[in-house]
Amino acid sequence: MKSTVKKSQIIRGDAVAELRKFSSAVFDLTVFSPPYDQLRDYDGYTLDLHALGAELFRVTKDGGVVVMVIQDQTCDGKKTLTSFRTILDWCDNIGFGLFECNIYQKQGKDGAWWSKRFRVDHEYMPVFVKGGKPRHFDKTPVKIPSKHAGKVMHGGANRNKDGITVDSRRMTINPTKCPGTIWNYANGGDKVALKRQHPAAFPDKIPYDFIRVFTRKDDAVLDPMVGSGSTAVAAHLLGRKYIGIDISRAYCDLTVARIAAMQSNLAPGFKNAKPPPAISPETAPGAALRASVFDRAASNHQPATRHRNQPPHHHG
Ligand SMILES: C[S@@+](CC[C@H](N)C(=O)[O-])C[C@H]1O[C@@H](n2cnc3c(N)ncnc32)[C@H](O)[C@@H]1O
Repeated sequence: MKSTVKKSQIIRGDAVAELRKFSSAVFDLTVFSPPYDQLRDYDGYTLDLHALGAELFRVTKDGGVVVMVIQDQTCDGKKTLTSFRTILDWCDNIGFGLFECNIYQKQGKDGAWWSKRFRVDHEYMPVFVKGGKPRHFDKTPVKIPSKHAGKVMHGGANRNKDGITVDSRRMTINPTKCPGTIWNYANGGDKVALKRQHPAAFPDKIPYDFIRVFTRKDDAVLDPMVGSGSTAVAAHLLGRKYIGIDISRAYCDLTVARIAAMQSNLAPGFKNAKPPPAISPETAPGAALRASVFDRAASNHQPATRHRNQPPHHHG
């Protein structure tokens, strides 16, 4: 049983099975996106979102937070409601509270062929908390500039419960303000060549922002389906310890390669990292880090294929 996260690791294996090897109350924050509604076939693996929720609840510290990034597939013209069902299940049957349900608004979501429906340019980001309230919450790093910074304006006119209106106050507008619950990010692979090898990555900036709000330096961050390594990369940049798990050997290698590219300074900011011809234990960069990939799954799984001109986008 692993009772603390002493060093960061990428672990190859099934998320639920691997989490069972950790003691209870180990992680401060989890940021992840599950495969859902059979949108993609990750080598035939299926996922029990209830079992995953139960394990995540157990391994999360009291006051720890779990952020899930999820959308619903459309079947026969109707949404599957997997996201809403999962939120209700995790709160009603597992014990999480819903701290908030933020929205990931995707910039640049193309829409030429959306003739029969609205163009879906968002995903849900339910923020689950274990226990009463988050053990750490600091929104300063994600504050946004105020449009009217420095101006003196009227505001704060609220209506009391009894219907009486409280007078508005004159106030000087602060330079920055609370970010709200709709978070806007560029869609796609962050212009990172390595990352674009994964078909359903979310922007690195999503875990980067949640990590800054909900954790302190050296806290332990988890992504049980680490994919292209977005959460691991963000945790690494911010000096947090991290555990990343993925069923796919190729995606574990991809994550290790991205972190190695950052560490070796071969690619400053990892933005210009050149993709290896094929990700394999022999050819991927970062051999030094390979020792930290725990090879636990039974067989070697390759990533789902994607047409070379098809842009990567996040959709579990
Ligand atoms: C939506 S992707 C996650 C993408 C990731 N958030 C990123 O930004 O790159 C889902 C990932 O779950 C992995 N996966 C599927 N079933 C799994 C399982 N049972 N245990 C662990 N990982 C699994 C897939 O290999 C895939 O990389």
